[in-house]
Amino acid sequence: MLVLGLETSCDETGVALYDSERGLLADALFSQIDLHRIYGGVVPELASRDHVKRMLPLLRQVLDESGCRAGDIDGIAYTAGPGLVGALLVGASCAQALALAWGIPALGVHHMEGHLLAPMLEERPPQFPFVALLVSGGHTQLVQVDGIGRYQLLGESLDDAAGEAFDKTAKLLGLGYPGGPEIARLAQDGRPGRFVFPRPMTDRPGLAFSFSGLKTFALNTWQHCQAGGDDGEQSRRDIALAFQQAVVETLIIKCRRALKQTGLKRLVIAGGVSANQALRSALEQMLGELDGQVFYARPRFCTDNGAMIAYAGCQRLLAGQQDGPAIQVHARWPMESLPAL
Ligand SMILES: Nc1ncnc2c1ncn2[C@@H]1O[C@H](COP(=O)(O)OP(=O)(O)OP(=O)(O)O)[C@@H](O)[C@H]1O
Ligand SMILES: [Mg+2]
Repeated sequence: MLVLGLETSCDETGVALYDSERGLLADALFSQIDLHRIYGGVVPELASRDHVKRMLPLLRQVLDESGCRAGDIDGIAYTAGPGLVGALLVGASCAQALALAWGIPALGVHHMEGHLLAPMLEERPPQFPFVALLVSGGHTQLVQVDGIGRYQLLGESLDDAAGEAFDKTAKLLGLGYPGGPEIARLAQDGRPGRFVFPRPMTDRPGLAFSFSGLKTFALNTWQHCQAGGDDGEQSRRDIALAFQQAVVETLIIKCRRALKQTGLKRLVIAGGVSANQALRSALEQMLGELDGQVFYARPRFCTDNGAMIAYAGCQRLLAGQQDGPAIQVHARWPMESLPAL
């Protein structure tokens, strides 16, 4: 089955073609980062308008790259939520219009299920069951995954998501958007031990997260540096390193707990923050000690992309799921409410 995947939940337009037999055939992405950079974050209306502009040229691009014709496509998967409603509606409308014109089924896919299954596109895909750590711009969740659509939420952030904490901390340090890669870059030259940030909510049992205090801690530390006239590049690097170490260690502690609680030894990390090298290395080490395995997608498929939506949609379309003709999207959408395959 050849499936077209459309992703428009936030500030990336992603279009991909995935074939159940041949794998990923083509994948194109347009990132709106330059459009939103001057505002320091995503402006929803600008995002929606830009998705409208990019969608059809990207579709032509994946058809050209794959050598497929529109008539070869058997189904269309699009991100139906969670995300920005205006942006989601662009992908949903395109998908439904094309499905009607081509006489094929369309299916709305859950964006976080897309992230969660992105490591399945790699050469060494994880087997079910596993624990998934979803760490993105909008989510920080630990989920027990027993199969596609068989998700049990183990814990999540009570406030800021991990990626959001990276972005906000970068902004207060005067760094660019998105902040995660900027913090990671600066942290490489940070001096360990100059600052020590708290590891939020690790001193009590449970799998909930809270990252909003870390950004306040970073702000206070930075203001203290500024007041002492020590506001040069090295202080930024030292703060970036201390912040990143705190996020990584907090995630490691909670992942270890989740693995112990579930008795599982496979961990999948997904979402934009899973591209973070320090996090990957720390998890590799931890899973090595536990005689387990960690799985993640190539960096390009950690952040938003069409390939993960095409893959997730293909599994569900193969199982016979499809939408009615109504164009429906969900700003919020609990992953546990998805049907199991
Ligand atoms: N190397 C990195 N280290 C840390 N954070 C990173 C890195 N690369 C990207 N990020 C962060 O990942 C986030 C973007 O990831 P993603 O595209 O998955 O999130 P989103 O789509 O905005 O949110 P959601 O998927 O929850 O709706 C941003 O917060 C960004 O700062
Ligand atoms: Mg995302």
